[in-house]
Amino acid sequence: MKLHFLALAFGPVATLATTNTNSSASVMSRVLFNPASVGIPSLSSAEAAQLQALNHQSGGWNSCQLACSILSIIIPFNVSLSSSPTYTPIPYWSAQQAALIPTCRADVSYATEISTVLQIAKLTSCPFTVKSGGHAAFAGGSSIQDGILINLAKMNEVTLSKDRQTTRVGPGNVWSGVYKVLGSLGVSVVGGREAGVGVGGLTLGGGISYFSGRYGWACDNVANYEIVLANGSIVNASRSSHPDLYWALRGGGGSNFGIVSAFDLMTFDQGPLWGGSRIYEMKYNASLADAFSNFVTNAPNDDFAHLYLAFAYVPTFGGFLTITGPTYGKPIANASIFAELDRIPPVDGGDFTGVQNMTALSIALNQTTFSRETFKTVTFKNDATLIKDVIQIFVEEAAPLLNISGFAPAFAVQPLSLNIIEKMAMNGGNALGLSTDEGPLTIMNLNWGWNLTSDDDAVYAAIDRFVSRSVELARKRGLDNRFIYMNYASREQDVFSGYGENSERRLRGVRRMYDEENVFGELWRGYFRLD
Ligand SMILES: Cc1cc2nc3c(=O)[nH]c(=O)nc-3n(C[C@H](O)[C@H](O)[C@H](O)COP(=O)(O)OP(=O)(O)OC[C@H]3O[C@@H](n4cnc5c(N)ncnc54)[C@H](O)[C@@H]3O)c2cc1C
Ligand SMILES: *[C@@H]1O[C@H](CO)[C@@H](O)[C@H](O)[C@H]1NC(C)=O
Ligand SMILES: *[C@@H]1O[C@H](CO)[C@@H](O)[C@H](O)[C@H]1NC(C)=O
Ligand SMILES: *[C@@H]1O[C@H](CO)[C@@H](O)[C@H](O)[C@H]1NC(C)=O
Ligand SMILES: *[C@@H]1O[C@H](CO)[C@@H](O)[C@H](O)[C@H]1NC(C)=O
Ligand SMILES: *[C@@H]1O[C@H](CO)[C@@H](O)[C@H](O)[C@H]1NC(C)=O
Ligand SMILES: *[C@@H]1O[C@H](CO)[C@@H](O)[C@H](O)[C@H]1NC(C)=O
Ligand SMILES: *[C@@H]1O[C@H](CO)[C@@H](O)[C@H](O)[C@H]1NC(C)=O
Ligand SMILES: *[C@@H]1O[C@H](CO)[C@@H](O)[C@H](O)[C@H]1NC(C)=O
Ligand SMILES: *[C@@H]1O[C@H](CO)[C@@H](O)[C@H](O)[C@H]1NC(C)=O
Ligand SMILES: *[C@@H]1O[C@H](CO)[C@@H](O)[C@H](O)[C@H]1NC(C)=O
Repeated sequence: MKLHFLALAFGPVATLATTNTNSSASVMSRVLFNPASVGIPSLSSAEAAQLQALNHQSGGWNSCQLACSILSIIIPFNVSLSSSPTYTPIPYWSAQQAALIPTCRADVSYATEISTVLQIAKLTSCPFTVKSGGHAAFAGGSSIQDGILINLAKMNEVTLSKDRQTTRVGPGNVWSGVYKVLGSLGVSVVGGREAGVGVGGLTLGGGISYFSGRYGWACDNVANYEIVLANGSIVNASRSSHPDLYWALRGGGGSNFGIVSAFDLMTFDQGPLWGGSRIYEMKYNASLADAFSNFVTNAPNDDFAHLYLAFAYVPTFGGFLTITGPTYGKPIANASIFAELDRIPPVDGGDFTGVQNMTALSIALNQTTFSRETFKTVTFKNDATLIKDVIQIFVEEAAPLLNISGFAPAFAVQPLSLNIIEKMAMNGGNALGLSTDEGPLTIMNLNWGWNLTSDDDAVYAAIDRFVSRSVELARKRGLDNRFIYMNYASREQDVFSGYGENSERRLRGVRRMYDEENVFGELWRGYFRLD
């Protein structure tokens, strides 16, 4: 009825359609005459009148001005134009991301709204990006200059299923929000360790968790994805529905296959656990490297244990320091697997371990910096001597930059112990291409912060030297590994070739099958891409 009314009321618009599929008139006529085909369920007569008025003024507009104006009519209240004086930007973890200003932001609430935004972006050829927790470090990871920013933050549902086996988690959640709801119900999921990190990026790229010894990474523990595909349709991807897509989403990353509108995460009983940070003087770096490396080797003896080891320069502390994060999935202090670590004394007042819940643990780690940030990562075979030598290189490369404003260089080593790699084979395996034959491994990730753009070149150069010297050393000793963990990578790293040839080829195949027209390749500005 409504469509019929529209056709009668706005007949003349049809004559405006041209062969140039990008022209404002062509776009408008398709929105006005056939809203259903562009993902708009129906238009009220008021909306149609607004669109009709828009049609008359949109002649000289660029594609994103047109897209954003259409969206602000068909998703009223939830689309804001950055040109408006009342526009308030949303926060990002790194200053490089925050610096990009979209034409408009769509604060979506439903899968159908995501689909509508996607269809309007396609119709107008306006580029877009998708933001979950916004912790990607580089510019344009989940921000965009002059395009549509699809902000998932409102999609923050956390609902435990009746049988307590899965939890429906909206893609706009940050992990502290998830743990807060689930903690009060005595359950948990395999997710991030830090409060402010998003469910979307972390889960799609992998997801190292305190619970990985028991269950693998976050991506290994998704029972079902609800996802908006390139053609705008909304499907489930699980072992039984689109199993090829299900496999690809488990490590294949955001911005390649579709926009995930809900994650059904496998859920387990979980009460309070033991864990927290410990801070040490740098003089213990070698014994800490030994303790960490032995932990990685021995981790299969106790799936409840988790450990990372980090090094940082912290001026308020007086220089370089070492941090560990021992965690145990039961309320038990100093489990025997941590015996070697427990013999190394933290600084006075520098032991923050204790029995606590996941919410408190994640908030204790929360980082609230908004300075310039960059990541970079490599993977090595687990080897204590290599870690010790890498620590030395870190200090050498960071030292000349210490007078840089706000300089905060850090790196960590994280376990890819055999029990974790084994668990990745669950549910048909994931896309990361790791096998126990090459393990145990340690992932080394850098996270350097600084304040001024004018120092960018010096910082990036030091990081590149640090990483290439470390890789060279590992290679000489036969301790290198091709794996590059997406969620810790810098933009220029070739993540997918690190997954191995088979996995990369299969991912590209799934990508083509679900996005034949390469809509995402052309319009989605974001993370690590398969195109
Ligand atoms: C302080 C800090 C702590 C961290 N801790 C951990 C940790 O414990 N374990 C770990 O494994 N990693 C950790 N990371 C790395 C983290 O996994 C990545 O930074 C990840 O990208 C963050 O996800 P996000 O949703 O916040 O990012 P965003 O920047 O919002 O998104 C990253 C990418 O995913 C895409 N994306 C997001 N949501 C969706 C969706 N619903 N559908 C499709 N694509 C989507 C975006 O478009 C973008 O391309 C940490 C990072 C930081 C900065
Ligand atoms: C439509 O716009 C895109 C991106 O701006 C451009 O690459 C393409 O050539 C345009 N198509 C037509 C038919 O003008
Ligand atoms: C706008 O967002 C709110 C939730 O914040 C939602 O209830 C409402 O339906 C949205 N409006 C439209 C038109 O999508
Ligand atoms: C978690 O711990 C914090 C701090 O001790 C407490 O305030 C909160 O109520 C706890 N949450 C749950 C779900 O137990
Ligand atoms: C996804 O699966 C759920 C549960 O089986 C079902 O209720 C829902 O309708 C499905 N969604 C789609 C888009 O098929
Ligand atoms: C790391 O430990 C080694 C061996 O104890 C020591 O020689 C070195 O000075 C330490 N490094 C730093 C930066 O303190
Ligand atoms: C655990 O080990 C740390 C470090 O050795 C020690 O300070 C602490 O007292 C121990 N805690 C318990 C409960 O044994
Ligand atoms: C965590 O830090 C972010 C900023 O990065 C802040 O917005 C958020 O409120 C913090 N979360 C908690 C639970 O403290
Ligand atoms: C830092 O010190 C070096 C010399 O040690 C100097 O060349 C450089 O200009 C200084 N940088 C800043 C930001 O002060
Ligand atoms: C660097 O920037 C951060 C975040 O804006 C600020 O808190 C800090 O004071 C700055 N440091 C210096 C040395 O300017
Ligand atoms: C969209 O693509 C999916 C996957 O290729 C397909 O199953 C579905 O039928 C398509 N939907 C439409 C409306 O073409």
